Amino acid sequence: MTSTLFESVAPDAHVYLDRLAATDLGRSYKGRMLNALEIRPGQTVLDLGCGPGTDLGRLAEAVTATGRVIGVDHDQAAVDAAGERTAEQRTVTVQLGDIHDLPLSDRMADRARTDRVLQHVADPVRALYEIRRVLRSGGRVVMGEPDWGTLTVDHPDGDLSRAYTRYVTDRVIRNARIGMQLPRLAAEAGFAVPTVIPVTPVLRDVQEADKILGLERTTQRALAAGYLTEEAAHRWLEHLASGPFLATVTFYIVVAESQPAT
Ligand SMILES: C[S@@+](CC[C@H](N)C(=O)[O-])C[C@H]1O[C@@H](n2cnc3c(N)ncnc32)[C@H](O)[C@@H]1O
Repeated sequence: MTSTLFESVAPDAHVYLDRLAATDLGRSYKGRMLNALEIRPGQTVLDLGCGPGTDLGRLAEAVTATGRVIGVDHDQAAVDAAGERTAEQRTVTVQLGDIHDLPLSDRMADRARTDRVLQHVADPVRALYEIRRVLRSGGRVVMGEPDWGTLTVDHPDGDLSRAYTRYVTDRVIRNARIGMQLPRLAAEAGFAVPTVIPVTPVLRDVQEADKILGLERTTQRALAAGYLTEEAAHRWLEHLASGPFLATVTFYIVVAESQPAT
């Protein structure tokens, strides 16, 4: 089933995140998230689930020398990597913490962002309440999360394609539909939601798509979980490798604002 086209061994998690940030898709949606944050010099900005700190430098530029950037992640290795990366940046600090119970005081931040974090957490609504707690009145959070229910991968056998995408939504990502659900969940947590921006990359280069989707590894796991037969998995990958290839998935950028008390 292995083709040399596909990456058979999963890259290190931090390498994966930096690599994705450097793709056209990564640059484009992260740039749009930054614009939507409308950061002003002197502000305090949180990157919640900051990973290895890929985005902390750009946030630090936006707040300038008078502002403050705080990265938070619950994974010690991510906190260490982000801390090392930003060691020279005086305005940036990185803390170990869980987004459900942030180690931050009430109303201490002007802006916050989550980038593909809420798709993984145990309780996204609790996380949203927690984000609201740490934002100042009128503060803003920008969340970039995919809706894996929108994943489509072209294949002549539509049933095969559906079996593969069903495996991804059922078994790979904990909150697979979070992108589409976020505007409703944010409103439930007391935010105003002025803007929802869908971003749908059209992936036509199978190797670029493989860097994001891990096509062969995911197929092998779908086979092991009984979503595909051995024959179907072989037919699936053989066609993807021979092209032409086309896959899409929609990311949602959701802008939510903490409403001033009336
Ligand atoms: C897909 S990575 C994204 C990292 C980074 N935001 C980026 O765009 O490169 C998800 C990150 O969220 C962190 N994370 C997941 N659940 C978390 C939680 N409950 N509290 C804090 N961080 C969490 C993970 O450790 C990981 O670093």
